[in-house]
Amino acid sequence: MSLLVLGRNGQLATDLQQAAQQRGMACTALGRAEIDIGDVNQLLRAINVTKPSALINASGYTNVDGAESEGELAFKLNEAAPRAMAEAAAQAKLPFLHVSTDQVFDGTKQGAYTEEDKPNPINLYGRSKLGGEIAVQDHHPDALIVRVSWVWGPSGDNFVKKLLQWASARDELSIVADQIGRPTYSPALANALIDLAAMPNRPKGLLNYAGGDVMSRADQARRVLDASRAHGGPYAIVKDVPTSAFPTPAKRPLNAELAIDKVNALGVPTADFETELRDCIASLLQGKIS
Ligand SMILES: NC(=O)c1ccc[n+]([C@@H]2O[C@H](COP(=O)([O-])OP(=O)(O)OC[C@H]3O[C@@H](n4cnc5c(N)ncnc54)[C@H](OP(=O)(O)O)[C@@H]3O)[C@@H](O)[C@H]2O)c1
Repeated sequence: MSLLVLGRNGQLATDLQQAAQQRGMACTALGRAEIDIGDVNQLLRAINVTKPSALINASGYTNVDGAESEGELAFKLNEAAPRAMAEAAAQAKLPFLHVSTDQVFDGTKQGAYTEEDKPNPINLYGRSKLGGEIAVQDHHPDALIVRVSWVWGPSGDNFVKKLLQWASARDELSIVADQIGRPTYSPALANALIDLAAMPNRPKGLLNYAGGDVMSRADQARRVLDASRAHGGPYAIVKDVPTSAFPTPAKRPLNAELAIDKVNALGVPTADFETELRDCIASLLQGKIS
């Protein structure tokens, strides 16, 4: 098993490289400095040189608010580039795993979103990611599209790291209590993608992957800050506020909960928030991770 990963310095791209290394697996990761991810010929050349057993797309335009004013770039990276990757992988007869988001949904459903639910994005980021899903399915019918939510971990920029920074500067934080979802640990997601890539009967089409626990953003913040305090790190009181108290350029789906029954039935482990949180917070507070 060897991997070609698109994206190099991003959160998931970094954790994929680490997971591959821990598993003794060859892995080449190409970021924007090394490849134009929207160019089929460059992608085919990279595939020919590295001869991977699977291609994983860990790249994307991920600034949800920024997408509202940078729509062209969001569609270029989230729709056109995955289309080129799917085309190249199909030509090379290579398995392709693409990562998408809960934000293809409008968040109005009561209960968890399954793979069968109809998307209805409410922001431009979600529309560009849905465009990517459709383009990938059109050009690589065997591709696996893994929808994830609320990704956090030791690499890259994420809500957990921001909370620790905010709590270092303030005694009380106002956090939205009416957005619910499943925090998803990026190293666990990386391992899940590798497990899925390695499956002899790899599923195709849409598959949700997310952490084991459902919570609001405010509850997530309380758990993070409690864990931080237990390790001698920064702490702040969390005050529940509604989403309407924080107007943002992009609307957020209030319900981001993805159903994980299908991925669990495949035997792919989903991470427990408290355990991963404790490990990650300890490393963060010891300054082991950026
Ligand atoms: N973070 C979340 O909460 C979340 C939730 C749902 C879904 N997702 C999806 O998960 C995937 C990975 O997200 P992430 O959190 O790892 O994102 P991230 O940390 O923002 O990383 C983005 C990656 O995209 C690449 N990229 C950005 N602009 C580029 C450009 N102009 N040309 C080429 N490459 C470019 C970066 O390449 P370099 O390595 O060169 O910097 C980087 O590796 C994305 O598809 C995202 O939509 C994320």
